[in-house]
Amino acid sequence: MSSANTVKHSDVIASTTTRARKLTAEEIKEIEHEMTLYPDKQAVGLEALKIVQKHQGWVSDESLLGIARYLDIPAADLESVATFFNLVYRHPVGKNVILFCNSVSCWIMGCEGIKDHIKDKLGIDFGETSVSGDFTLIPVPCLGDCDRAPVMMVGEDLHRNLTPEIIDKIVLDYQSN
Ligand code: FES
Repeated sequence: MSSANTVKHSDVIASTTTRARKLTAEEIKEIEHEMTLYPDKQAVGLEALKIVQKHQGWVSDESLLGIARYLDIPAADLESVATFFNLVYRHPVGKNVILFCNSVSCWIMGCEGIKDHIKDKLGIDFGETSVSGDFTLIPVPCLGDCDRAPVMMVGEDLHRNLTPEIIDKIVLDYQSN
């Protein structure tokens, strides 16, 4: 069972704030670049969210409002985009985000058992962050490596043919000392 202290990623924060965070020069530069690739500012919204998340680790209400004001689009529209794409983190996440594939090939190859092992080992379920702050576990659709299922990503690294023993090693490799 998950600890009561774990953080629920699924707790989407409503945009009630009126304080917009000033975007950094680096964020603005990258957003401006995206604006050369898309037909209108509305279409740049998702990319801008990803850019801010890359720099800040997650997208706070203040950041979301800062993007909306910069792009001159309604904050509610941007909130809808952020809510729809579950890889836009609207809550602080752990140092390492585990993207765990639970699509059909991984399911056939026993990903449920692997997920139970992670749950027991880290004390977290989908959408939660470990008390240590080292790991957040998020379910994702197919990661495109079905012939080596079960599969998950930790950060940018793909891990295949998962077994409980491999999970133990991965946790050791990524956790803070
Ligand atoms: S179903 Fe898991 S990688 Fe394709």
